Amino acid sequence: MSTENLVEAEILDNIDPLRHLRVDDEAFVPVQPPTTHRQIQPLSFGDVHLDLLVDAGPGCGGIAWPAGEVLSNYLVHKGPEYLRHKRVLELGSGTGLVGLVAAKMGASKVIITDQLPLLDIMNQNVALNGLQDSVVVQELNWGSEIPSLGEIAMVLAADCVYFEPAFPLLVQTLVDLAKLAGPKCDILFCYKQRRKADKRFFALLKKQFTWSDVGEIHVEDGQERTYNREGISLYRLKAK
Ligand SMILES: C[S@@+](CC[C@H](N)C(=O)[O-])C[C@H]1O[C@@H](n2cnc3c(N)ncnc32)[C@H](O)[C@@H]1O
Repeated sequence: MSTENLVEAEILDNIDPLRHLRVDDEAFVPVQPPTTHRQIQPLSFGDVHLDLLVDAGPGCGGIAWPAGEVLSNYLVHKGPEYLRHKRVLELGSGTGLVGLVAAKMGASKVIITDQLPLLDIMNQNVALNGLQDSVVVQELNWGSEIPSLGEIAMVLAADCVYFEPAFPLLVQTLVDLAKLAGPKCDILFCYKQRRKADKRFFALLKKQFTWSDVGEIHVEDGQERTYNREGISLYRLKAK
């Protein structure tokens, strides 16, 4: 099995631990669709509510990941002035969650991007939440040329560090976007710590960017919390 398949397999195992037993007619467990199969998940971040179609079928991006929820919470916590009139681009959007929240918080245009298999669920989530006027779905494979996207004031990425061969590609895309968008562009990068190899991502990132913790405090479930917790860190990147 290639490294890509191993990482993908590990993530899918978390979603459906019995999936290896469902391989064919001889299997111990009858073949089933993925555990998360076209479900609508209602999600709330403060006063922002949305319905998210989740489906593990198109791959690991088809469900909402924890760093995406943390970044969504942060955007809501910052209030509507933070995103008003801004054009935003999200990398590795998966279901589109973070970008949809950015649109609900008043961004003038949000470009949610991912690889081809995810575009359908992203489009469905845009329609499900009635955000066709402000959100566009665009294929963007890290490391490949950035399509012409117009001015970008903010780049968002959540839970995008998990597959080692993609590390240089993701860094390259962040570099390309930072150049295109210019120094005023805010890059929010929400990272969930998973494996030791992640260090290699940050070694590559360090050659091109500096970053700082977004250590702001907010109240959640009546308790004061920061955005860096439970292995999740929210960073603001600056190109060197
Ligand atoms: C763990 S998921 C996180 C999804 C979403 N940001 C969230 O927080 O719920 C990682 C996402 O990165 C995307 N991705 C992985 N490799 C990519 C690549 N080379 N180019 C573009 N997107 C990629 C996957 O398709 C997936 O949607």
